[in-house]
Amino acid sequence: MCGIVGYIGERKAQDILLKGLKRLEYRGYDSAGVAVLNRHKISIVKRQGKLSVLSTELSGRPLAGTLGIGHTRWATHGAPSHKNAHPHRDCKGKIAVVHNGIIENYLELKKNLKKKGHKFLSETDTEILSHLVEEHYKGNLEEAVRRTVKMVKGSYAIAVIHEDEPYRIVGARCDSPLIVGLGKGENFLASDVPAILDYTHDVIYLDNHDIVTLTRGGVSVKDLSGRNMRKSPSRIKWDISQAEKAGYKHFMLKEIFEQGDVLRNMLEERIDKGRVVFNELEIPSKVFRSLKNIMIVACGTAYHAGLTGKYIIEECARIPCHVDTSSEFRYRDPVLDKNTLVVIVSQSGETADSLAALREAKRRGCKTLGICNVLGSSIAREADGVIYTHAGPEIAVASTKAYTAQLAIFYLIAIYLASLRKALTASGITSLIKEFGKCALLMNELLGEYKSEYNALAAYAQEFKRYYHAKHNKSYFLYLARNINYPNALEGALKLKEISYISAEGYPAGEMKHGPIALIDENPWVVCIATQAKTHDKMLSNMQEIKARGGIVIAMVTEGDKEIMHHNVNYVIEIPPVRELFSPLLTVIPLQLLAYYVALEFGYDIDQPRNLAKSVTVE
Ligand code: F6R
Repeated sequence: MCGIVGYIGERKAQDILLKGLKRLEYRGYDSAGVAVLNRHKISIVKRQGKLSVLSTELSGRPLAGTLGIGHTRWATHGAPSHKNAHPHRDCKGKIAVVHNGIIENYLELKKNLKKKGHKFLSETDTEILSHLVEEHYKGNLEEAVRRTVKMVKGSYAIAVIHEDEPYRIVGARCDSPLIVGLGKGENFLASDVPAILDYTHDVIYLDNHDIVTLTRGGVSVKDLSGRNMRKSPSRIKWDISQAEKAGYKHFMLKEIFEQGDVLRNMLEERIDKGRVVFNELEIPSKVFRSLKNIMIVACGTAYHAGLTGKYIIEECARIPCHVDTSSEFRYRDPVLDKNTLVVIVSQSGETADSLAALREAKRRGCKTLGICNVLGSSIAREADGVIYTHAGPEIAVASTKAYTAQLAIFYLIAIYLASLRKALTASGITSLIKEFGKCALLMNELLGEYKSEYNALAAYAQEFKRYYHAKHNKSYFLYLARNINYPNALEGALKLKEISYISAEGYPAGEMKHGPIALIDENPWVVCIATQAKTHDKMLSNMQEIKARGGIVIAMVTEGDKEIMHHNVNYVIEIPPVRELFSPLLTVIPLQLLAYYVALEFGYDIDQPRNLAKSVTVE
């Protein structure tokens, strides 16, 4: 949510800022701006709209200077507009600030600043920061920033520059990510690693309440009392090519097609001599032996992975699991104790509600485990233990490969727990590991079917668009499934609504008769996941009921399912045969692709859907 870049060195700051912002655009894209300092003068250019609008503007009148800060915005306070775009200035125009987060006490601070004569130009909470720095500035920018952040409540990652100190950038963070990139004769500040990977792989992950000062020659980090903090740099192992489209039309498509490799790499990394290994996990095995229940907490797609995780863990390890959305968990009074393991699932590791839920669980004395994709993220660092999904950078706003990686981690956790607690026999464990390995191959096989641009799902999407217009835009999607595939019904619906803005709901199919069937007429397209033998007949009955009321049915079945032929469904999607427990890893693939092709048909911006941002770092 909002991307920040800062650069100080010998190169043209504008180019580095724009390139960095491009890589952070997934964090917000309703306006963008840069401030470049040259010869004691800060020039700011900002524009409403995507980064391309700003880039076009700057290509016509480039800013000279080798020090600057930039921002791409996801609006919280104040509509997306030119005046609310960052950077923001102080009254004298000597200071520029970019900010990610929310300053919760900004109204009170603004009132006091106004009393002192400060004039505000925007509706943002951010603008109070530039005025507070101005108020506190007595010839030392770092000190002014320290005094400023001591006054604010809320979350922030900021970068600040001052015309009187044209040799430094000062940054600070609290509950919004900020990293430093270490170069030679140049240094970088950014919200996330992809922004700086073209220049350096050495980064410092800043902690809450750190104040960082970057000059060309060095970086110093201090705490809020001005004490020097020692920070060890981390080396980023992945390459910038992983954050590029590699010939695909969209990041989302690329990330969907990467899922087979994600699974294969996970197998190579996590299975050793027939055992599951979590090398980075710092929680002792005796904790897992003695735990009595598991509480899984997450948001959005990660929550759906958690819902599936419950089925997997309960079936394999026989430990009771509960699942909650982070935003609900943090405000209720859950029954937890020291024998509860709270598992926080988060691709970004920065989602504000999930981070707050983690802290709440720790406060209540539970052991906490993060399942994260982004290395060094807040949840990964604050949880008692972390298991990384290692899915590589996920750039498209709609999550795909991180989801299957989260599912895969749940299979591994379940096998790990089952083996530690002897919930399954040795041969039971071996057969699960074997089946999991098979899934990686089957996933690649399934993805192979959709490699061509003109595949069955693309054709269904075209049909849907025609139908949608014929029905005067009243068509929409329902997703039905039972049991372990029910969370995938929710996920399929979420993917579709996120990127195609078409109404979509997921239901457990057995619930249809308790209300939702009233919706069925000739308008909805209903995707029915009927791959599981256990509930196959029940799903066929659901399909009949929908067809009888005029609905369009897309049936997802296992290859070789002959019965489906007798049910007069409109479209069929087949997945390779796999043990039921593992079917969610495969059934989600066509759902992701269907959402993709529908959005493509309607011509929407797939990687950057409206109103969304990749990393939700505000409540
Ligand atoms: C959906 C999507 C969101 C995220 C949710 C949690 O495609 O991307 O629903 O899953 O915002 O984000 P993380 O996993 O970063 O905590």
